[in-house]
Amino acid sequence: MVKLNHVLRAEQFLDTNCQEAIFQEALRLKKISSTENGALSLRKELEGKNITLFFGEPSSRTRGSFETAGKKLGANTVLIEGAFYGKIENPLTIALIAAELLTDVLVMRHPKAGLVEEVAQILDEFAPNISVINAGDNAREHPTQMLLDVLTIREVKQKTLKQGKLTVGLVGDLKDSRVFHSDAIGLSPWGVRFVLISPGGENLPDYVLEILERNKNPLKKTNDIREFASEIDVWIFTRFQRERKGEGDLSEQRKAYIDAFSLTPELRKLIKRRAIVLHPLPRLEEMPYSFDSDPRALYFSRQIKNGIYVRMAILEMLCS
Ligand code: CP
Repeated sequence: MVKLNHVLRAEQFLDTNCQEAIFQEALRLKKISSTENGALSLRKELEGKNITLFFGEPSSRTRGSFETAGKKLGANTVLIEGAFYGKIENPLTIALIAAELLTDVLVMRHPKAGLVEEVAQILDEFAPNISVINAGDNAREHPTQMLLDVLTIREVKQKTLKQGKLTVGLVGDLKDSRVFHSDAIGLSPWGVRFVLISPGGENLPDYVLEILERNKNPLKKTNDIREFASEIDVWIFTRFQRERKGEGDLSEQRKAYIDAFSLTPELRKLIKRRAIVLHPLPRLEEMPYSFDSDPRALYFSRQIKNGIYVRMAILEMLCS
């Protein structure tokens, strides 16, 4: 089993063997969970372990799947959430609370980029047995979403992923989507070709582009969603990240985004028959409800469930 202390950034998973070990474990857990006896037997794996979920930004899927993952493995879960950060946003305070709650794994989402890593560093000093997972830090990273996205791609496109022949289109808010940052990093070592589809001046952060350059990932950039539609095997959409863009009326910008980067009926006809479409959710108008029943749409049929099993695998690894 892979030995991990914390899960803080997608860069920890630049070795595809490390990703593969997590996927194998996630798939093993998925298979065991499919029978009643198997699911019962899993409840002993993390019996007596305490998982603290510290969520300073809203979350449905990440929070829900970590809680489900912990409970499926028999761990205790405690949820701390809401608008309390004005009082206790100090990383030392968060670390002390985690220690006092006898936490084994601290799962943190925080509105300040980098703060989750600060908490992990403090805990390394005085409570090194506590592992920290970054469940999203502002616009920067979301490494466990990356793992569930790559697992979903691997389930359906295993051969082309492993052969380095996949073309992945990232559609929309490249600058402020933490999912895109982590996904690009995690997909890079598989040798994928990227098509970056976003407003003209927007791009992935420099540190992400440097990783893609080091790994020699072929890269195309366009603001026309139709331009490379016939080449893309995996589409990953995201919403306009309104909460990352400061004050002011951005309704025009939001409308322009929806007009340019949505899965329209016209695009639906251009997307390859065997392509797959991912979305981390939540969505706005860029992903119409009418596409949900399309067999190429995997955001409900696979991504949410895979999120549970990937997170079970990670919790196991951190506690072993
Ligand atoms: N994908 C994702 O991070 O969703 P939540 O914000 O609901 O956790």
